[in-house]
This record gives sequence, C-alpha cells and structure tokens, in this order.
Amino acid sequence: MSAKITISDLIEAKRSAGKIAAISCYDYTTAKLVAASGMEMILVGDSAAQLMLGYDSTLPATMDFMVAITAAVRRAAPDVCLVADMPFLSYQLTVPQAVANAGRFVTEASADIIKIEVTRPYIDVVKAVSDAGMAVMGHIGIRPQSIGKLGKFKAEGTTAQMAFELIRLADDCIEAGASTLLLEGIVREVAKIITDRVDVPVISCGSGPDCDGQILVAPDVLGLLTDHKAPKFAKSFTQLAPQITEAFAEYVKQVRSGKFPEDTHCFHIKTGQLENLTDALKTIE
Ligand code: KIV
Repeated sequence: MSAKITISDLIEAKRSAGKIAAISCYDYTTAKLVAASGMEMILVGDSAAQLMLGYDSTLPATMDFMVAITAAVRRAAPDVCLVADMPFLSYQLTVPQAVANAGRFVTEASADIIKIEVTRPYIDVVKAVSDAGMAVMGHIGIRPQSIGKLGKFKAEGTTAQMAFELIRLADDCIEAGASTLLLEGIVREVAKIITDRVDVPVISCGSGPDCDGQILVAPDVLGLLTDHKAPKFAKSFTQLAPQITEAFAEYVKQVRSGKFPEDTHCFHIKTGQLENLTDALKTIE
C-alpha cells in the first residue's frame, strides 16, 4: 500500500482478500492514536452527535459541526482513508445542495469518501455526488437517520423479500457510482451475498465477518462508555473507563491535598528580579 491510503488501495485489498479495519472517531487526539495503529479507514460518523455531544440520536449533527470535526481528524491522520458522514438534512432537500455539502467535506476537511445513508429515493444523490468526482460510500441496512420513522432498529434482511430489496439497493448504489458500501445491521447471509456480488469494498457495521472490512465506534473499542448499552455487534478491546476515572480521581485527590502542582510544574521569575520587585512594591505600600 502507498503511504496515503486511497479508495484504490481498498479495492486492491478486496481483490487480494485482505481485510480492512475501520473506526468511527471524532477528534484530533483519538485520531492520532488511531493513525499510529495502522488502521486503514476512519469514518467521522454522525454518531458524534450521540457520543461527543450526548444527544439520543444522530439527527442533531449539523454540517458545520461535521465539517469541523472531520477537518480535525484529517489534521491528525493525514494518511488514512477518511470518510465523512453526510448528516441529517444535508442531502435530503435538493440534489444540488447535496453536492455542495458533499463538496464542503472535500474542500474544507480533505475527506476522501462521502458517506450517504441510502434508500431508493436517494440513489440520484449518490449519482450526482459521484458524477461531481467524489467517491461515495452507500450506507444501507439500518439507517440511524431514519429513527423517527422506524421507531427502533432491528436486523435488516431477515426475510427473502427484505433481503432481495437490500441486494437490489446495493446493486443500484453501485450502478449510480458508489465506490464502497457500508452495511449496517444486515444479517450475515445477505451481507455475504452483497459482498460477493459487488467489486467495491464492503464494510460491515454489525453485518458479520464475510464483508471486506469491519467498523466499530472508537468509544466501544476503547471501553469508554459507562451509561451506554452497546449494540450486540460491538466489542470492547480494552476497558479504559475505570482507568480514566481512576486517573481523574487521583488528580482531584492531589489538587485537594496540595500534592499537585509541585515546584517542577511552576514557572519562575528571572534571577534577581524578585528583589527588584520587592523594592518596587515598597514604593506603592
Ligand atoms: O455514524 C457512524 O459512526 C456510523 C457507523 C456506526 C457506521 O454510521
């Protein structure tokens, strides 16, 4: 692979049966650590509305917020393949507005790929953004931006009819120009059929191991969340929450006891200046 990971590298990974590791991550500091791990792809997902801002859905994420955090992640990770997530109402109103908003992620945040939650009415958005020269990730299956209509999320593709519709939608995304697909919460059997029938890299978010790559959100991977019921498909690879809470508690303890800060944490007045200051202060006593 070249130093900067591009969509061509991901296509090559699919051809050579290499698996792609991806993560949703939303800030500069975490993205630096992700980049050092050798991860191929970072998605700056609109799940940031929940995991950074504390909302109960992805819907409040705005374009300005998403562009700002995508640019921050890019500054930390110049070589990863960076996917930007089109937030709710950034592409649903008009096709020209969708293209303009997608373009902001490229011009203001140097994103490589634009992710769009796709149902059949939005195939024309996929085509327009792709025709404008941007790589599109078609996100199908569970679509968190449709929570208002769906009420709750459940596995997608559980019946032959639902599976057939999903497979046709995946085909139509590719036909419209999508360069990659993200399958969320699609049953394993159907995710495998889609992965096998398309030439583009297919990333699984809870859609099983037969896709070309996997994505999880960084707070789940790091075990950072204490008040969040992780989805069935999530896995924590460490439990940082107790360690971090312990570090904060130790800081509180040392501030309260006066153990922190020590003299080594202080700046000092230049040699001889304290005497001068003492003399000067006498003049205003
Ligand atoms: O917003 C997000 O982080 C996502 C992933 C969970 C796939 O869409």
